[in-house]
Amino acid sequence: HGWLTLPKPLQGKKVLVTAGGTIERFDPVRYLTNDSSGKMGFAVAEAAREMGADVTVIAGRTSAVEPQGVHLIRVESAEQMLQAVLTEFDESDIVIKAAAVADYRPKITHHQKLKKTGGDELVLELERTTDILETIGKRKTDQVIVGFAAETDNVEGYALDKLKRKNCDFIVANDVSAEGAGFNGDTNIISIYNEQGLVERLPLMSKQAAAQRLLQIVAQ
Ligand code: CTP
Ligand code: CA
Repeated sequence: HGWLTLPKPLQGKKVLVTAGGTIERFDPVRYLTNDSSGKMGFAVAEAAREMGADVTVIAGRTSAVEPQGVHLIRVESAEQMLQAVLTEFDESDIVIKAAAVADYRPKITHHQKLKKTGGDELVLELERTTDILETIGKRKTDQVIVGFAAETDNVEGYALDKLKRKNCDFIVANDVSAEGAGFNGDTNIISIYNEQGLVERLPLMSKQAAAQRLLQIVAQ
């Protein structure tokens, strides 16, 4: 026993992954969300588990098959995701923030279902959510933090700006305007950056393969 077992690169490491989109309610039955499927985050979680890590996933709304062999924590809103991430953060070695967190939430959450008594127009006021990545970037001690950046233009420029602004060790940029990349598909085209610039540009591949390559780079 044991003599055939290769050492696993993330053995003994605690990996925290966020996945999916947040839900921001404005009444008990209505909310704002986005197109995130959670596939990329779940693929990262499974790849980390296969590499030997102890994996916790904090997931919002998803439409992908749930990862097995990980601790899965379900949340709805950006605020709930923030609290769950902060609870896990200090204990984590690697944090991978694949979730599509809402930038804005309704200013008022009504406790009763809204009735259409206001006439022909309804104005929904929104306010900014807390940036989770920026918050943990400020708290960072020895964690490796990996952010994501979904862009349609100036991909490298915006990605490097987010890396610096949010104090990340790596940022994974995906051009969501490219064919075969982005929110709901099974494939992705990602570029991985660190403080020095481009680390690796991956061609179109399955989200599983992209997740595996990303974790190999982070594990180094
Ligand atoms: N993010 C976060 N909390 C937020 C918004 C974003 O933690 N309230 C994280 C995402 O999980 C992702 C990274 O920040 O890892 C980048 O998200 P993105 O939407 O690309 O960037 P933003 O900073 O929100 O900028 P913008 O949407 O204006 O491009
Ligand atoms: Ca955003």
